[in-house]
Amino acid sequence: MKAGFRVVAKLDEIPDGGMKQVSVAGELVGLYRVGDDVFAMSDICTHEEAYLTEGDFDPDELEVECPLHGSRFNVADGSVRILPATKPEVAFEVKVEGDLVSVGPEKTAEE
Ligand code: FES
Repeated sequence: MKAGFRVVAKLDEIPDGGMKQVSVAGELVGLYRVGDDVFAMSDICTHEEAYLTEGDFDPDELEVECPLHGSRFNVADGSVRILPATKPEVAFEVKVEGDLVSVGPEKTAEE
């Protein structure tokens, strides 16, 4: 995905504590809302083919559980918390301005 932010949703389209799948430059990205904060992460599980936004989101833990085999990912940085997935997801920068949510460049790994 190219650098720069694009508006992908309105804040009120994402339920608080919920998620929404959007397409950003042809790539499927999951948006996760916690209050006025939004996190963005690639939506296809790195284990096999499943949409993480069809799984369960725990806003307190910032964690999504894959609907297929139960891997869990930290939506803030894409890291794996529970196997069987071993490869992290790509997490993206997000800006919320007014009611507009924009997704930007990939976050850099924090390890
Ligand atoms: S496809 Fe997500 S854990 Fe297997």
